Amino acid sequence: MKKVLVTGGTGYIGSHTVVALIEKGYQVVIADNLYNSNEGVLNAIAGITGVRPAFEQVDLADEAACMALFRKHADIEAVIHFAAYKSVNESVSKPLDYYRNNLNSLMWVLRGMEAVGCKRIVFSSSCTVYGQPDVLPVKETMPYQEATCPYGNTKRIAEEILKDVVRADRDKHEGRSELKVLLLRYFNPIGAHESALIGELPNGVPNNLMPFITQTAAGIRECLSVFGSDYDTPDGTPQRDYIHVCDLADAHVCAMEYMASDDFSGWDAFNVGCGRPYGVLDVIRSFEKMSGVKLPYKICGRRAGDIEKIWGDVEKANRKLGWRAKRGLDEMTLSAWRWQQHLQEKA
Ligand code: WQD
Repeated sequence: MKKVLVTGGTGYIGSHTVVALIEKGYQVVIADNLYNSNEGVLNAIAGITGVRPAFEQVDLADEAACMALFRKHADIEAVIHFAAYKSVNESVSKPLDYYRNNLNSLMWVLRGMEAVGCKRIVFSSSCTVYGQPDVLPVKETMPYQEATCPYGNTKRIAEEILKDVVRADRDKHEGRSELKVLLLRYFNPIGAHESALIGELPNGVPNNLMPFITQTAAGIRECLSVFGSDYDTPDGTPQRDYIHVCDLADAHVCAMEYMASDDFSGWDAFNVGCGRPYGVLDVIRSFEKMSGVKLPYKICGRRAGDIEKIWGDVEKANRKLGWRAKRGLDEMTLSAWRWQQHLQEKA
């Protein structure tokens, strides 16, 4: 059976991807330091799939610990690397923590792969590498733009590290790298698995829109602040390319299948989104319609670091990965609400 190491696999996107991989017949080992998640997610994954994945609690930014992990699982065929700190505003206040953790963990994972002869990695990248694109929808060929925060910068630097590693491998093998490095540039993942057993677990006050909406609807937060309505967009609020987290998880399975084919080697990047923009008010309206809950919100000033609008050209992922998002905004908001209700029942 195809054995995959999923770093950060107890996290939001990681756990949904582990479910999709197991359902596709992969053997999964999760490596996570539980900084942003908890071991209960393993029981939930078992509840959904009937399989409890192997779990290693490890700080991948600790080189010795990371190398020991790879020696223990030397038979892995591929790595999906999610493990990273991901809070935009926390990265502004703790830049060195972000550069140390996000970049060291990537480098030690690459060292570990080298030590055991593992040649395939899918890297969790982000549309933040595009900054505010000049042309929309944004294509993978568009240049990097100045990151608006250290978190986004760690994603751009990570992509450059991966490019350099492939270049060195290519030189070592007469121009054709044996490595297969696939970057998935996520847009805005929201929603939860249909079972409502796994979903987003923000630490403290949510930064992201969807969990703030569901916590407001659940009465945990008093009122949603809509950060700005004076943008050059149809309703004045910023636009994003929201994608159901399960569609995003499916994209990782398609990426694994694509890497198994012989016609790919080297480095390639794919936009993973729905390819269409929604404003904040669109998300609120969809949530109210699907949940039946009237959401208290107020229009406030813009949030520092926010870009005005972004959505992805996803033709390349459709064509080369054979992947396409299947779930619409209403399914995203309803699944997020069902997950919030599950959390309330558990509390
Ligand atoms: C979405 C919209 C806010 C909260 C995130 C991740 C980033 C990347 C892309 C993976 C914006 C508005 C939000 C609130 C609001 N993903 N908003 N009130 O900033 O696009 O970035 O997805 O790498 O890492 O952080 O997502 O959910 O914070 O904001 O009005 O209370 O909702 O202004 O327009 P963002 P978000």
